[in-house]
Amino acid sequence: MSSSKRYTITAALPYTNGPIHIGHLAGVYVPGDIYARFLRLKGNDVAYICGSDEHGVAIPMRAKKEGVTPQQIIDKYHGIIKQSFEDFGISFDNYSRTSAEIHHETASEFFKKMYEDGKFVEEVSEQLYDAEADQFLADRFVIGTCPKCGFEESYGDQCENCGTSHNATDLINPKSAITGNVPVLKQTKHWFLPLDKHEAFLREWILEGHKNDWKSNVLGQVKSWIDDGLRPRAVTRDLDWGIPVPVEGADGKVLYVWFDAPIGYISSTKEWAAREGKNWEDYWKDENTKLVHFIGKDNIVFHCIIFPSMLKAHGGYILPENVPANEFLNLEGNKLSTSKNWAVWLHEYLEEFPGQQDVLRYTLTANAPENKDNDFTWKDFQAKNNNELVAIFGNFINRVVVLTNKYYNGVIPVPGDYSEVDEDVLEQLKQFPDVIAKSIERYRFREASQELMNLARLGNKYLADEEPWKVIKEDEERVKTIMYVALQIATALSIVSEPFLPFTSSKLKSILKVDENLSWNDVTEKEALLPEEHQIGKAELLFSKIEDKTIEAQIQKLEDTKKANEAANKEVEPQKDTIEFDDFTKMDIRIGTILEAEKVAKTKKLLKLKVDVGIDVRTIVSGIAESFKPEDIVGQQVTVLCNLAPRKIRGVESQGMILMTDAEDGSLAFVEPQQKVQNGGQVC
Ligand code: 2FM
Ligand code: ZN
Repeated sequence: MSSSKRYTITAALPYTNGPIHIGHLAGVYVPGDIYARFLRLKGNDVAYICGSDEHGVAIPMRAKKEGVTPQQIIDKYHGIIKQSFEDFGISFDNYSRTSAEIHHETASEFFKKMYEDGKFVEEVSEQLYDAEADQFLADRFVIGTCPKCGFEESYGDQCENCGTSHNATDLINPKSAITGNVPVLKQTKHWFLPLDKHEAFLREWILEGHKNDWKSNVLGQVKSWIDDGLRPRAVTRDLDWGIPVPVEGADGKVLYVWFDAPIGYISSTKEWAAREGKNWEDYWKDENTKLVHFIGKDNIVFHCIIFPSMLKAHGGYILPENVPANEFLNLEGNKLSTSKNWAVWLHEYLEEFPGQQDVLRYTLTANAPENKDNDFTWKDFQAKNNNELVAIFGNFINRVVVLTNKYYNGVIPVPGDYSEVDEDVLEQLKQFPDVIAKSIERYRFREASQELMNLARLGNKYLADEEPWKVIKEDEERVKTIMYVALQIATALSIVSEPFLPFTSSKLKSILKVDENLSWNDVTEKEALLPEEHQIGKAELLFSKIEDKTIEAQIQKLEDTKKANEAANKEVEPQKDTIEFDDFTKMDIRIGTILEAEKVAKTKKLLKLKVDVGIDVRTIVSGIAESFKPEDIVGQQVTVLCNLAPRKIRGVESQGMILMTDAEDGSLAFVEPQQKVQNGGQVC
């Protein structure tokens, strides 16, 4: 990547049926952003392209559930998502949407050309149909058992458990997601992309041609797909939400969302090119342009097999040079889930950590799920902030800026002769841009972020070893050299941190008043990044410590979510048979107080209690020993069914029953009065 090149970088178009969370950021948008920013800094011509995917089947389903129109849903989430990207500094050159006219036109033309060139197979086949809903069922409209892994809740198009993509008719025991009915088979015409015809090309292009430069997780999935045997895939659907199929005899049919969505990359590029006075074809049709797709692992088949087959069959388009798909990010040990609200939503993060976008970007990069699924924990987030961003990066910069202001009123001093240590540090400094670049060029963003932190470490250690604050007392000239060297490192950091920490980089550049034209290569090639006599600004904190209580509040928030989910999922016993009022009044229920409690010998569950129920003190045997220690419940007020016929339990006569219920965590809980009441008080 020595000379300047043209790059088209795409990031998966998010569905507009919900906001986005840290999993999206970590898997797709931050790595894509680091890559795009880095390439721009290296002087390349970059188009970083994205937009909203607005024809997903989940969109009309959500609209139906909320009693609004699909258009209202997409407008709402398109706005929220676009804003989150801007807030987190994701530097898309264009963010479009697939409901845009230019996209409808582009996707229709794409289909029409393939149709006219005979690239589809037209077939009347039997598809699943829900008679009650009067609708064909495909994709998310049908749920059943995955033929590959046996997961019982697989969608018609893809199994969320094993990731396999299939046709709805492949599902075992299919059920309509609309009515729950078992669907029938009904004939309908569709257009299929004959993937089987592209197998030889895919094998050669990916499994041979890219066997050394694509990630192993991507190659693995592609190989397993091809080895399983590629079959024709329908690219149209019987639905009323989507882009109408632009040929005769296709009334009531739309393009399959996965046919139109990747074409969204092209239409978004067109929109951008028209605005910027560029030629979009340079970015999609010129063999010298490098096309790179950033996606999550569930999108591999669409970007490595289906879309390339479409591009090839259409003709005239370049194919991706790489598809660096990431694995998934988990949150505190559990799968991120929109429906379970198990997520850190970007818009909420910003409310709780205002101005701290770079902390999240850094944590997600340092911990990115590049080769395997990875876990985001709030404690790790705190540690990355406090121990790295604050203690290393921030501390170094703060010392440099404070001392430069203190000793020289912010004017860069003229250095004397370099010591061996200085020479060595400056030499190391010059290596960093290349080391970081090599990691980024290989899509190893975790590694790259650690090298960035190593550069800050170099500076921090240099100052700690050279101790200018001590040397100033006996050798003012030497301190000028130390500070000059430290200022060069600080400036280098302001430049090479930009892809990772864009907000920090910009703040640091403004503190140091760095020349905006300095590029990545200047760090290695330029003698002085900040010249002698240059005036810098005042110190400002780049990062601040995150306290334990802030992290505990986040963890508590997730605990609350977990509890709410458990409560929502808890099966509530159906109501028992109706009784008469007289039946109720037969029960003598009173409040009592436990006076004594002890375990019943040789049992796990039983406690023998002495309870004052106002009318007397009686013995009650209760199966609560697994939830309560005897010593903890003496004095506890309880509700007692007093006139239950006495019975012997493990040799002890029990003269009543303590009423209990289940707590949210599954343990037992007493039914007790809200405030202390007299023993014997009746419950009626
Ligand atoms: O999985 C998803 O969220 C899809 N909306 C990604 C689409 S990527 C592209 F093809 F548009
Ligand atoms: Zn499965």
